[in-house]
Amino acid sequence: MPFATAYAVALQGSLGHLIEVQADVSAGMVGTSVVGRADVSLNEARDRCRMAVLNSQLSWPGTRRVTVLLSPADLLKRGTHFDLAIAVSVLAAADELPRSALAGTVLVGELTLSGGLRAVPGVLPMALAAASRGIRRIVVPEPQAAEAAMVPGLEVLGMRSLAQVVAELSGENVPEAPPVVPMSGTRLLAWRGQDRLDDQDLADLSGLLDAKFAVEVAAAGGHHLLLSGPKGSGKTTLAERIPGLLPDLTPEEALELTALHSLAGVLEPGDPRLLRPPYSAPHHDASKASLLGGGTGLVRPGEISRAHCGVLFLDEFPLFRADVIEALRQPLESGEVTIARGHESATYPARGMVVLAANPCPCGKYHPSAGRSQCDCSEVARRDYRRKLGGPVADRVDITRHLEPVGQHEMHDPLAVNESSAEVRARVTRARERQAERYAEEAWRLNGQAPGPVLRERWPLPDEGQRKVDDALYQGQLSRRGATRVHRMAWTIADLAGLEAPGAAEVQTALDLRLGRPLAAAALQRAG
Ligand SMILES: Nc1ncnc2c1ncn2[C@@H]1O[C@H](COP(=O)(O)OP(=O)(O)OP(=O)(O)O)[C@@H](O)[C@H]1O
Ligand SMILES: [Mg+2]
Ligand SMILES: [Zn+2]
Repeated sequence: MPFATAYAVALQGSLGHLIEVQADVSAGMVGTSVVGRADVSLNEARDRCRMAVLNSQLSWPGTRRVTVLLSPADLLKRGTHFDLAIAVSVLAAADELPRSALAGTVLVGELTLSGGLRAVPGVLPMALAAASRGIRRIVVPEPQAAEAAMVPGLEVLGMRSLAQVVAELSGENVPEAPPVVPMSGTRLLAWRGQDRLDDQDLADLSGLLDAKFAVEVAAAGGHHLLLSGPKGSGKTTLAERIPGLLPDLTPEEALELTALHSLAGVLEPGDPRLLRPPYSAPHHDASKASLLGGGTGLVRPGEISRAHCGVLFLDEFPLFRADVIEALRQPLESGEVTIARGHESATYPARGMVVLAANPCPCGKYHPSAGRSQCDCSEVARRDYRRKLGGPVADRVDITRHLEPVGQHEMHDPLAVNESSAEVRARVTRARERQAERYAEEAWRLNGQAPGPVLRERWPLPDEGQRKVDDALYQGQLSRRGATRVHRMAWTIADLAGLEAPGAAEVQTALDLRLGRPLAAAALQRAG
């Protein structure tokens, strides 16, 4: 039999598709070709595979014609991770190892010219796709074995070299090989999870009851939030504490988030599992590709997807580039990002909370009362800065909160007792449980993700509350999109208070949150 079949996985966004890699070795013009909608990146795979085979003291069928067919043919195959399946299929076709050893096995890894295996992004989503298609065994670069092992029911072989893989599949003694260098990923940001719980507590902040309530509602329902206020009013400090108000990730969320980090190539090799909601605070210089996804070669998910199920904090939001702000519209609205490139597009989940912070002006010292303003920005600079806050992104933010600096007196009041993150997290967790129960049969879990039409149909507001919303619409205070956001938040406020459904008071509080108005003292009491 002159041909052999191995299995690999092609990635399309965060989805994997099982690919048959069929090698055929026959008489004919000497050479190697890879066919079946292979991206140019796979042209180089031919040479890498041949060199890796020769340098592993194995024999490449160099005097015959080698054809590698990747199917299904209609799917674009991109990336260097096909190397291992290609090399092994050719070796099996040339009788260097038994063909039967390839059955039910997916092979993943880039090859070095010397025959070593190199780590690749996306091992977890590949393993998930393989398991869902009935594959029982996966071979991956050694540092990524823990990642693949997160998928239940899959036997994982972590290998260092092509020679090791061939020996293992042939049932022979596995030779020694130098360890694989972990991916030279861009671990630019600290993905602090657990430590955030330990050293950043909400109790560090005095006062700000109104803003703390807003943050609690945002965390409970997964609503987007804009914090505005002058320098030193506590915006950054408050935003950093939001992940600590969220419950641990559910097993499904943990797998989904880890898969996204796997695609971004930023997992810790030994202990890849992410259990706490992530936090990401990219600088305002960030490019569109780094924030939303993109890059050369394989399309990588951006910060917004790495903050999936957690918090993306955009401090000094008006300083972000206009194209970045524009591109945020889709994820804010739909909870996913689509990156188009040529004829292909990749979609990644991005269902985190987006938290924006802004000063009243570029220098941060402007105050509306002339006597208190120490601002030295020009009128034009102030206007440009504010305009960025008024656009389509602001319409997709649920909550607007203004923070006023808390006086020294209040900040150091020895009698004041501030609620801890743990207390708020307990309420947020209960509110999220109520939502999960209500939406058990639905495709979403949180009020912030519930589609407007479904809410209006099945979980309507009380008449008196709906009238308040209609009035605000009529008076032009609220857009249609804003009305949906108020509806969602009214349910979150009810869930936090343990109510069966929102009443007029909950709708009023939701409206005030949306319109940036101070909250009634009674509203703040409800959270207790
Ligand atoms: N309500 C508060 N209670 C206790 N400390 C506070 C409070 N508000 C601010 N601080 C402290 O003041 C400092 C400045 O706060 P922070 O950096 O969060 O302000 P900011 O609004 O982000 O300012 P900027 O516009 O300059 O970024 C921090 O050390 C913070 O802990
Ligand atoms: Mg700040
Ligand atoms: Zn200013």
